[in-house]
Amino acid sequence: MDNLTQLIRPNIRSLSPYTSARDEFEGDASVWLDANENPFGTLNRYPDPYQRELKRLISEETRISTEQLFIGNGSDEVIDLIFRLFVKPGTDKALTFSPTYGMYQVSAAINDAELIEIPLDETFQINLEATLPFLDDPNLKVVFICSPNNPTGNLLRQNDIVTLLKRFRGIVVIDEAYIDFAATPSWNKQLRDYPNLVVTQTFSKARGLAAARLGIAFANAEIIQWINRIKPPYNVSALNQKAGIDCLQNKDTYLSEVQRILSERARLITEFSALPIINRVYPTDANFILIEVDNASKCYAQLTSKGIVVRNRSKLIPNTLRVSIGTEAENNLLLNELKQLPT
Ligand SMILES: Cc1ncc(COP(=O)(O)O)c(C=O)c1O
Repeated sequence: MDNLTQLIRPNIRSLSPYTSARDEFEGDASVWLDANENPFGTLNRYPDPYQRELKRLISEETRISTEQLFIGNGSDEVIDLIFRLFVKPGTDKALTFSPTYGMYQVSAAINDAELIEIPLDETFQINLEATLPFLDDPNLKVVFICSPNNPTGNLLRQNDIVTLLKRFRGIVVIDEAYIDFAATPSWNKQLRDYPNLVVTQTFSKARGLAAARLGIAFANAEIIQWINRIKPPYNVSALNQKAGIDCLQNKDTYLSEVQRILSERARLITEFSALPIINRVYPTDANFILIEVDNASKCYAQLTSKGIVVRNRSKLIPNTLRVSIGTEAENNLLLNELKQLPT
């Protein structure tokens, strides 16, 4: 990317990154006296700072080179590192399409950056006409696109994303936390065509490892090198790396769980559509469904009083609840309660 270096914050361009003990040595050794570790125990050694085995398996599955992969402590860490790499506090800006995932706003605020929020249109798609004028702002460094979008559930139109990728001179991040539940390929297949593209994914959703905190960034090797320079040296614990490796080695479990979630999703859409308490069931490409009711706060309180917790999204979209797809038994409990609620 010809202007990539110009996009990196000047203080980071001139940064001498921390080099860990494990960065400096290459080769085979049997006596490790370089990192002030305790010589006893099983978790006594620092983890691989570059998560090589985990990346090898991701690379095998995606056919994307390990040099184009970054692993974060959840994709939330990736989002924050992107701010820190490209967005100068107090001066630079990022842009996103609302309503969307809340961490772009939080990360922007933490990094003292203005977040421009362009409202999605009535079908929750990007309003290009409203967006394009902002792309020429020299202080706009990063555009965050969440697709499938949280909390609306839908994929964003491919042509609009292509337009943004072509028109914008800064970094375009496509957050694909929910891509495994959508019937489209990942944007990570397009990295060669768009050097300014960063695709994020996570092990927290379809891979069932929310507790482990593993996020992925796919991008061109130069962007990945820059992210590596600013990341905390041992950002992904050995336990978490192992959990990711085990998960990738058990692909059948992942595939069958995604299928079960998708079939429950289809069932819930049908059942929700027939319930008088629900006014609207929004289309979804994710593992959750956004529904509209007459009084979301009341409905939310009624469900929590029965021990069922959904997400009240009314502040973003009036009278909506976001419902994650649970197990068949959990979904049945939810349906039973919804059927009994007074309309
Ligand atoms: C769109 C989106 N991106 C990222 C995340 C965070 O993922 P992680 O658990 O990998 O930090 C979430 C979590 O809900 C999300 O909805």
